[in-house]
Amino acid sequence: MTDALTQPALHALNTRRSVKFLRAPAPKPDEQALILQAAMSAPDHGALRPWRFVRIQGEAIDRFADVALDAVKRSGDVRMTPEKEKSVRAWMADVPLFLALAAKIDHNSKVCEQEQVLAAGAAVMNILNATHMLGYGAFWSTGLGTYVEAVQEILGLDPLEYRFLGYLAIGTPACAVPQHERPDFREFLSDWTGETPAAG
Ligand SMILES: Cc1cc2nc3c(=O)[nH]c(=O)nc-3n(C[C@H](O)[C@H](O)[C@H](O)COP(=O)(O)O)c2cc1C
Repeated sequence: MTDALTQPALHALNTRRSVKFLRAPAPKPDEQALILQAAMSAPDHGALRPWRFVRIQGEAIDRFADVALDAVKRSGDVRMTPEKEKSVRAWMADVPLFLALAAKIDHNSKVCEQEQVLAAGAAVMNILNATHMLGYGAFWSTGLGTYVEAVQEILGLDPLEYRFLGYLAIGTPACAVPQHERPDFREFLSDWTGETPAAG
């Protein structure tokens, strides 16, 4: 059963697409507040609130591109060729807002690390959906040195304490975003009807 409220909400969930190429404007401050507040409704075992977001916007994006790309090159990543660096810089220059994403792990909690990371991931999903609902685009990337410790440290995310989950690029889609056919959920669903596999 769907009513007048659930129909548009489900439509929004079903039409979200990742949008890599973005430009200004970013969501306005009050819209950013709505987007980030949506993250607070993620499921969260033990109410640990493990999600953390580091906002990078304006001139800080250029500065971050400099230090992050430098750290990636120093890490010896051979994929960061001059051509790749040029294209990453060009992409970043157009994106008006980045959120670096992390899970702050409570190592003393009875809730295991996997569950804490999943809660942070669910918070990121709420951000993606809220961004889309407000008419903006977003793209989750684990480029930009996500797995380079020096980059995590630049962002204040000590690898001993945090699992770094990448970045969301957020802004206005740079071009039209065509609809994308999604798989049929039945391919991913099975029913367990009570029978156990024969022993042996
Ligand atoms: C944790 C995570 C990291 C990702 N990192 C990258 C990435 O580094 N580069 C990339 O092209 N896509 C990456 N993706 C995939 C895109 O964000 C996006 O989901 C994909 O292009 C499919 O688009 P859709 O969300 O519209 O289905 C990542 C997705 C997730 C969940």
